[in-house]
Formats: sequence, C-alpha cells, structure tokens
Amino acid sequence: MKLDVVTLFPEAFDWFRAQRHVANVLAAGSTLTAINPRDYTPLSGGQVDDAPFGGGAGMVLRVDVIDAALRGHYGRDPVELRGERRVVLLTPSGCLLDDALATELAGEPALTLLSGRYEGFDERIAEHFASDLVSIGRYVLAGGELPAMVLADAVLRKLPGALGHEESVVEESYSVALGGLPEYPQYTRPAEYRGWTVPEVLLGGHHAEIRRWRLEQARLRGGG
Ligand code: 6GU
Repeated sequence: MKLDVVTLFPEAFDWFRAQRHVANVLAAGSTLTAINPRDYTPLSGGQVDDAPFGGGAGMVLRVDVIDAALRGHYGRDPVELRGERRVVLLTPSGCLLDDALATELAGEPALTLLSGRYEGFDERIAEHFASDLVSIGRYVLAGGELPAMVLADAVLRKLPGALGHEESVVEESYSVALGGLPEYPQYTRPAEYRGWTVPEVLLGGHHAEIRRWRLEQARLRGGG
C-alpha cells in the first residue's frame, strides 16, 4: 500500500514508522510518505492557515494551500485525485473509525490521509478534496496527527506480513471471525499466581472445547 499523510508535522511520524508492524510492511514494499503543505504553499513565509471568516478563535487551514500541496505532490487536480484513490480527512465530526472501515481501507492500493491542526480545515477541503471524513472518537484532539496514526496503525497491521502470525488479525477483537465481538481473555504462565488460577479448559489442550469457551467468553464480554 502507498500511504501518504498530509501533515504540518512530518517528524511526528518518525516514531510510528519505527514500530515493528509498520517497519515490517514498509520492508515488504509498502510506503509511508509525509507531505508537508508548508513545502508547497504559494503564500509567503510558509503560511498555511488564516483567521476564520466571521471571527472566532484559532486559525483555519487554507483551501488554496492544500490544493497546492496535493497538486504539487501528485501532479494533478485534487478534485480528480479523490476519484482515483481514497482521500481521508481526519476530523472530529467525521464518521467513527471501526474495524470494518479499517479492513475496507486495508484493501486499497493507495490512500491519502489529511491531518489538520489549529481550529480545523476550510470546509471546502472536506467538500472538494476528501472522499471520506473520519473521526477516531467523540472527543476533540488538538491535531489530526494522532488520529492519522491511529487510522494508519489500524490499517497497516492488517496487511500481509505486518504481524508475526498471520492468523492473529483474523480472530481478534471486533473482527468478522469473532462476529464483531471483543476478543476472548488470554492467559500465559504461570498457571497460578497468588492463588489466581487460569481457566481449567485452557490447560487441557482440547481444541474444540477451548474454541467453544473462547467464543462464549467473547460473547459475554460483548454483552450479546
Ligand atoms: Cl480525526 N481529529 C481531531 N482533531 N480530534 C479528534 C479526531 C480527529 N477524532 C476524534 N477526535
């Protein structure tokens, strides 16, 4: 997957890039590219934002600057770009990120994330350049970098070779394999610690019974 992130803080992604599952998919041929609007702004002094029309606190990312950044990087009109690849704008008012959306996006060959700062984006960026508006929860963060990383993490870890064991993304919390339920509880050694024991069924090696127990536990956790 070719994953590009439009961000005013490209260095924020250095830590993310070094994470094992991300490093794995990058080594396998995927790319993670930061695009800094400041490198493309037609305005003087690296200006990228402006005061909101109608007044109010904070600054708003300018539509002409994002146009220039996308046009400069991709060599085409961003209005056409969103017809060719998903362009996901991270915004608290977007639709909530869930496992189904992460799986859907993981199937895309190329993806562009737009992460903003300040009070947000000029609405025309959402309207004309984005294909999707996505939020990571009903709370407000100071910027879109963490949401972009959350989305990128949820997506990239689903790609082949991201994790050590291929089966581990199939049957995990909220996956189709678990019927959208949270994951079952896991235990490891010691089998007893301070009198706290591990469920007997897990120690027996009876795989069908273990499977039944795990699905039941997932169901109990899901309240279903
Ligand atoms: Cl996508 N952006 C910001 N700034 N805050 C958020 C969010 C996104 N999702 C939840 N809170």
